[in-house]
Amino acid sequence: IGHFSKNGIFAGKKILITSGPTQEAIDPVRFISNHSSGKMGAAIADAFADKGGEVYLVLGVGAKKPSNPNIKIYPVKSARDMYQSASNLHSQMDICVFAAAVADYAPKDIASEKIKKEGEGMTLDLVKNVDIALSLGKLKKPHQIHIGFALETENEEFNAKAKLTKKNFDMIVLNSMKDTGAGFQLDTNKVSLFFEDGRSLISNVLPKKQIAELILEGIKNIPVKI
Ligand code: CTP
Ligand code: CA
Repeated sequence: IGHFSKNGIFAGKKILITSGPTQEAIDPVRFISNHSSGKMGAAIADAFADKGGEVYLVLGVGAKKPSNPNIKIYPVKSARDMYQSASNLHSQMDICVFAAAVADYAPKDIASEKIKKEGEGMTLDLVKNVDIALSLGKLKKPHQIHIGFALETENEEFNAKAKLTKKNFDMIVLNSMKDTGAGFQLDTNKVSLFFEDGRSLISNVLPKKQIAELILEGIKNIPVKI
């Protein structure tokens, strides 16, 4: 048994992918969210499905949908919804990819009516959201592999490696913010892959489809534990 059914092929393997932004409601008409397009998650979902994998994609609102028709899509809004869907699927999965840009905080209470404009300023009480990758990382079994993402603006490598350890990832994909042609909304990206054993790989600026293929290739560097 390995992470592949045969060289580079994922037939019979179940893959969970979280992708896109989460939306945290403030009131019936407003929410907190972020700029994630879901393009990287969609490219990874297609790459696995095109190589025979059974892909379960937990997808935030407005995130790009993959093109492979065999991919099962679970639409979600909030971080809590995303956690529910992902944790229902987790125990049956072989590979989990946490590509979603999960909002770190959500409004403490959701107002039942539209909040009216009053006064010159306003304060919103926020509470920390569940960390999906961290929670499921604690449940990871020896045959399962977890792949995480990081986007940093300073101490990039140090912070990415700290997340790799803290969240029990086997590989973390660091998105480069500093290179032109990389990041949110774009069709290209530049990444560094860091592995549990200290190895790393750095890509050029490439189309997200090719970055996805590189990430799948990176799985070959993850030791098989059973
Ligand atoms: N992640 C998650 N659930 C969260 C927050 C993050 O599953 N509530 C996952 C992301 O999908 C990503 C990884 O954890 O794979 C790292 O996300 P990131 O936002 O970089 O890390 P945080 O732990 O939230 O740290 P910070 O934003 O403070 O840098
Ligand atoms: Ca975060």
